[in-house]
Amino acid sequence: MLLHIPNVLSPDQVARMRQRLEAAEWTDGRETVGVQGAKVKHNLQLPDTSPLREELAREVLKALARHPVYHAATLPLRTLPPRFNRYEGGGEYGFHVDGAVMSLPNGEQLRSDISCTLFLAEPDNYEGGELVISDTYGEHEVKLPAGDLIVYPSSSLHRVMPVTRGARLAAFFWVQSLIRDDNRRRMLFELDTSIQTLTRTGADASAVLQLTGVYHNLLRQWSET
Ligand code: NI
Repeated sequence: MLLHIPNVLSPDQVARMRQRLEAAEWTDGRETVGVQGAKVKHNLQLPDTSPLREELAREVLKALARHPVYHAATLPLRTLPPRFNRYEGGGEYGFHVDGAVMSLPNGEQLRSDISCTLFLAEPDNYEGGELVISDTYGEHEVKLPAGDLIVYPSSSLHRVMPVTRGARLAAFFWVQSLIRDDNRRRMLFELDTSIQTLTRTGADASAVLQLTGVYHNLLRQWSET
C-alpha cells in the first residue's frame, strides 16, 4: 500500500527543523548502505551518531505517535529512528531495494516491512528529487509538500531522481509492522477507516460494534510480535 499522510509535521516544526538542517554537518550517504546500494547512492546524510540527528529523530517519532492515520496504516511494532538526508547538485539514488533486516540502537533487529519518507523541503524549492516507486501497478512518482509522509512496502524497487536545482531534505525510516503482509495490512486499514466513517455518520451502533470486533479479531489472528 502506497499511502500519502499529510501534515505529520506542522509548518512551524518543518521550518525549525529545516533551519537546523541547513546549518548541519553532512556526511556521505553511502556510509549506511550495503554494496548494492553504495553503487547507486549519491546523497548526503546526517551522521547516525550526531546529537542533531538524535534530537530531530525523537521529534519525528513523537509526531508519528500522535498521528492516528499513521498508526492505522502501519500498525507499528518496531521503528528505526529516522535518519535525515539531503540531495543537491545532481545527487540521486538509483533503483534499489531496501535491506530486509536492520539493527536497532538497542541491539534488537527490525524486519523492514514499510519504508517511510517524510518530506522536509517545499516541492518548488528544488527541481527533480521525485521518489519513484515501482510495484505491480507500474511506477509512481511522489513529491510531497514539506511535513507530509509517504509510506510504501519495503519490498518495492524505488529510486530518487536527480536533484538539478536547490536541495531536497527529508527524513526516512523503516517500520516492522504487527502485520507483515501488505495486503492484510491494507484490508485492516480499510476496515478501520470504514468503521471510523460509520461511527462519525451515526450508523447503527450494534453493527459498528460487531465490525469493530471483526477488526480486532483479524488483528489478533494476523499480528506477529
Ligand atoms: Ni531505499
